[in-house]
Amino acid sequence: MRLLLVCLIALLGIGLSLVLGEAESEPGVAAQDRVARGRYLVKSIGCADCHSPWVMGPNGPHPDPDRDLSGHPADLVIEAPLALGEGPWGLAASRTMTAWSGPWGVSFTRNLTPDPETGLGEWSEDEFVATLRNMRHRGIGRPLLPPMPPMYGQNLTDEDLKSIYAYLRTIPPVKNRVPTPLPPR
Ligand code: HEC
Repeated sequence: MRLLLVCLIALLGIGLSLVLGEAESEPGVAAQDRVARGRYLVKSIGCADCHSPWVMGPNGPHPDPDRDLSGHPADLVIEAPLALGEGPWGLAASRTMTAWSGPWGVSFTRNLTPDPETGLGEWSEDEFVATLRNMRHRGIGRPLLPPMPPMYGQNLTDEDLKSIYAYLRTIPPVKNRVPTPLPPR
């Protein structure tokens, strides 16, 4: 009788661990869903329009797929903002669409690839979400400059922002150290 009880408890234990094991594997599936959702969001919102350097192709300029989301290329050196005159123009972009000159000085789009030294490799998910929510460098630093849109952090859900982060971890890392912004003239 006692043996039967022991067997029963052992069987229950195996059953329970199977159920728990299944529960544990669920985050893996969810993680895959997140990456797919993040990819969809990044591709639809068009982060690459600003965060990938544009190159000239047969049909005109387009974001370079070989340097996807790697930010302003370090070898395109920009030393001063554009002189703003009295005319209607108030903003200029580099031919790569990655450096932006305006009344704030010059902003350079960040490297969003997972490169540990020059990209978002060291960034935690919390930091990434806080950056877009608070529009501050790494979530708590200096305010982010235009034209980085504030709407993502205002309108996307936590789940969406985490999905974008998850997708950005999966793209090829590109070593490219983006310069720090330049002050206005
Ligand atoms: C219209 C151009 C534009 C678009 C579109 C854009 N960004 Fe940016 N982004 C910028 C610029 C410019 C900066 C640099 C701002 C600065 O240095 O203050 C930046 C900076 C960032 C940073 C770095 C902030 C930091 O703390 O250094 C992150 C993260 C970021 N963008 C994510 C995204 C994501 C994700 C998308 C798409 C969902 C996106 N951006 C779309 C222009 C853009």
